[in-house]
Amino acid sequence: MRAMIKPILIHPDPRLKKLCAPVADLSDDLRTLAEDMLETMYDAPGIGLAAPQVGVLERLIVMDCIKEGEPEPVVMFNPEVLSSSEDQSVYEEGCLSIPEQFAEVTRPAEVRVGWIDMDGNPQEKDFDGLWATCVQHEIDHLNGKLFIDYLGPMKRQMMTRKSQKLKRELARG
Ligand code: NI
Repeated sequence: MRAMIKPILIHPDPRLKKLCAPVADLSDDLRTLAEDMLETMYDAPGIGLAAPQVGVLERLIVMDCIKEGEPEPVVMFNPEVLSSSEDQSVYEEGCLSIPEQFAEVTRPAEVRVGWIDMDGNPQEKDFDGLWATCVQHEIDHLNGKLFIDYLGPMKRQMMTRKSQKLKRELARG
């Protein structure tokens, strides 16, 4: 069956501010959702997507930070940052739920992440570079946190207003 492209929620939306529940049972429905999320992410296009962005308040993220060459899709159920480097790095971040807006965010440069894969097996891996930023950004989504929450209140409000305006325009069609 072909994966389906899901509508992506645009900030502000209360579902983007919720703490998501751990996945207790890796059902076929959740595996299908993961495939749909990958399809949705590639279509957008984006490098990461979290389940709450498609309105599902469960701990699931998908990523692919390879910009050229073979795709490297990653699906993580219940992802958790196990340790973070003291070294920080700064990336200009964006978010499919806050379209067309970008800002520099400082985060640990390297993180060790644990998760459950599509087959239900536990995995652990170190991430650096863009992957490290992306996985932290996506895990934040599962805790109701957006990248604009790292910015000062003025900038956050400005970006929220712009996003709200875009959302109204999209709704009008
Ligand atoms: Ni995002």
